[in-house]
Amino acid sequence: MKNLTQEKGEIPAHVAIIMDGNGRWARQRGLPRIEGHRAGAQSVQAVLRACAQAGVRYLTLYAFSTENWRRPRREIAGLMSLLAQFMNENEPELHKSRIRLRTIGRLTDLPPAVQFALDRVSKATGNYKEHQLILALSYGARDEITQAVRAIARKVKCGEMDPAKIDEAAISRHLFTADIPDPDLLIRTSGEMRLSNFLLWQVSYAELYMTETLWPDFRENDFFAALEAYGRRKRRFGGLAGKSRP
Ligand code: FPP
Repeated sequence: MKNLTQEKGEIPAHVAIIMDGNGRWARQRGLPRIEGHRAGAQSVQAVLRACAQAGVRYLTLYAFSTENWRRPRREIAGLMSLLAQFMNENEPELHKSRIRLRTIGRLTDLPPAVQFALDRVSKATGNYKEHQLILALSYGARDEITQAVRAIARKVKCGEMDPAKIDEAAISRHLFTADIPDPDLLIRTSGEMRLSNFLLWQVSYAELYMTETLWPDFRENDFFAALEAYGRRKRRFGGLAGKSRP
């Protein structure tokens, strides 16, 4: 990685990743799909290390979408036990690098053992301020926005909120990501050019980086290549110059 600096805004504060291509990676090797997810979990470890090294403060990973429930039962069960295993095995690393674990999505949809592992590690790492790992689980952006609209409507109905006061900041405050800055960089692996219902509100001004690399092959150097590409972008947020947010 070249000498990118945080001061000049060359290092994104928040990177969000659509981890795609696990199934294709496994198929290319004649392996069951779950082996692609298992190798993908190692890429998660690699990217976590890279974030700590580069000084990326927030990393949001699309680990399971609301649409992923349509997959075969066996694959879902495999993914869920991989998640619980990941929590148990990587907790020491989260403590060592002072990474706070958080989750966004419909957590109550997950099997109790997975909820329990996530909850335990989230509480144990809850005081860390340096880095955050945010796992999007049973997550869908349209679902998130729908829930926010419902919460706002309830407040308006009982007179707690004035409709005239509903602005962009108020909507952001009602999303799962209320106290998390919007992503600066969105990475998608495996060559697909879609947002797939991921953080639709929050990525309005994010830089997009799409790579052909399949997620299980995406390791530290691929992440640093994405950061370098980001460092070369001129962010204007719809204005004419500078990097200031709207
Ligand atoms: C998309 O690849 C990937 C997923 C639906 C799951 C992502 C999960 C992991 C990387 C496992 C571990 C995660 C954590 C946080 C420990 P795909 O299966 O859609 O790939 P394909 O498009 O090639 O079929």
